[in-house]
Amino acid sequence: MEVIIRPTTDAAAGLVAALVAASVRENPRLVVGFATGRTMERVYALLVREHREHGLSFAGITTFNLDEYTGLPAGSTDTYRSYMHERFFRHIDINPANTHLPDGNAADLDAECAAYEERIAAAGGIDLQLLGIGAVGHIGFNEPLSALRSRTRVKALSPKTIEQNAGAFGGDPNKVPRRAITMGVGTILDSRRILLLATGTDKAEIIARAVEGPVTGMISASALQLHSRCTVIVDETAAVRLTEQEYYRWIFDNEPEWKAYQ
Ligand code: GLP
Repeated sequence: MEVIIRPTTDAAAGLVAALVAASVRENPRLVVGFATGRTMERVYALLVREHREHGLSFAGITTFNLDEYTGLPAGSTDTYRSYMHERFFRHIDINPANTHLPDGNAADLDAECAAYEERIAAAGGIDLQLLGIGAVGHIGFNEPLSALRSRTRVKALSPKTIEQNAGAFGGDPNKVPRRAITMGVGTILDSRRILLLATGTDKAEIIARAVEGPVTGMISASALQLHSRCTVIVDETAAVRLTEQEYYRWIFDNEPEWKAYQ
């Protein structure tokens, strides 16, 4: 794992967008894992700009989103399918048939989870996975005590997650679904490269625990320490609780891989 600290929220999101754009340019048939949440909105806005102003094409990529709420009414604008469509997919030249999210309204949710794993495998696995982090330290909806080897499955949401996500439901926690389909921690760890983006003071404590604390099922993001190519990108405010900041800054300033992004 490596940690990159950027001065502002915009610079942190900009680095993630630049890394995605470079990966798509290098491999136009990239298989990308996308995440939702407020943090990612800026990344998608920047990628849309890259498409419009610099002609970045997404026509050949295949996408798999991390998760989806279960049981929202058909056509609800609160689904992650709707989030991705509104903020990203409808603004770019992606082939809708190549965009995958779990179906939270499937008649048989367990079968849907198994089928989702099969679809990822059939696409050749995920090349690049984007992640945010929730207040409980989740990646996707891998709530506390998620098995570190878990696969795509239905998960009950913790009270803290319901509270955190209530904003998207008019601030009413009672409107937040109680369950979601999520890629497992093991599914996520199978991705070839992982980028986790966290910004803002609210994320400082959980980022420090996930990155510098012990690997534990209580904080599923801590499992990323087991991945051989995971980059955690934070802004200054999300970095304040990290103890090895000096080392992380040195890496960004000196390692050849980061020269093109300075
Ligand atoms: C939801 C998603 C997570 C995401 C988290 C972060 O819970 N299921 O995948 O990491 O939101 O949200 P935000 O970026 O709004 O803090």
